[in-house]
Amino acid sequence: MRDVLSRYDQTGKVAVITGAGSGIGRATALTLAAVGATVVCADIDEAAAQTTAEEIRSDGGTAGVVRTDVTKRAEIDALVDGAASEHGRVDIMGNVAGVPHNKMVVDVTDDEFERILAINLKSVMYGCQAAMRVMVPQGSGNIVNVSSGAIDTPAPTLACYAMTKAAVAMLTKTLSVEAGPAGIRVNALAPGIIETNFSAQHFTTADGTVDQERLEGYRSRFGSMAPLGRVGEAQDIADAILYLVSDAASFMTGQILRPNGGVAMPW
Ligand SMILES: NC(=O)c1ccc[n+]([C@@H]2O[C@H](COP(=O)([O-])OP(=O)(O)OC[C@H]3O[C@@H](n4cnc5c(N)ncnc54)[C@H](O)[C@@H]3O)[C@@H](O)[C@H]2O)c1
Repeated sequence: MRDVLSRYDQTGKVAVITGAGSGIGRATALTLAAVGATVVCADIDEAAAQTTAEEIRSDGGTAGVVRTDVTKRAEIDALVDGAASEHGRVDIMGNVAGVPHNKMVVDVTDDEFERILAINLKSVMYGCQAAMRVMVPQGSGNIVNVSSGAIDTPAPTLACYAMTKAAVAMLTKTLSVEAGPAGIRVNALAPGIIETNFSAQHFTTADGTVDQERLEGYRSRFGSMAPLGRVGEAQDIADAILYLVSDAASFMTGQILRPNGGVAMPW
């Protein structure tokens, strides 16, 4: 039993997580720290990342914070290079930060299109490149990219978002082929509907207060789309990320894991 559990142990590992201030990134940072990893929490919202890091430290873990705008290559390079020089290595790169976008194709402006490409796609490319520069000489590492269940089911208004996430999935697969011989695994998640700030538009008022009635409506409307009958929690995805970066997944690379309650079941 101890052997099985030890495959999940991340003691001595260094993880860089983008989007660590909220939702899936926050839950991932807390989860990896709980099993021993030193976590570098990156987010454009520095105060939120700080809160995550403080929670890790108050639980006895080790965490730092780097304010990072993932759309800026130089900031991602500084994040990853800084983690490597401060901690001696980077074992896990979690490219989690991302934003929603809802517009019919005919209504999308150039500015919006560029913005969503930058936050959801270019950032992941930058994160993968920066991580590879450190991991290849190390001869080991795990990269996890967050794609989305939006790649499985075309839906109105989701074109830009789903295109970026489909590209993230293809980047993941292609990089896994290039990185495997260097001892580096690259996987992605395609989460279903997860209750985080990302989906808050469905259940908060203009001042950010949660509207309980709309929250219940969101849960039942989106939950009923899944055979498991519920929306997901950030922890559901963090647990899947822990699996992917752990030795329990040592034969997994180039895979798109789908913690989605069964909403979509592609081969
Ligand atoms: N929540 C869902 O239903 C869902 C489903 C599938 C995929 N996803 C994906 O999961 C990832 C995390 O989403 P979440 O649900 O945790 O959302 P969230 O809004 O709770 O967290 C996203 C975090 O990313 C940060 N961020 C945004 N822009 C940034 C930038 N330019 N630089 C650095 N940080 C930035 C935000 O400050 C925030 O802390 C995203 O990539 C999202 O597309 C979410």
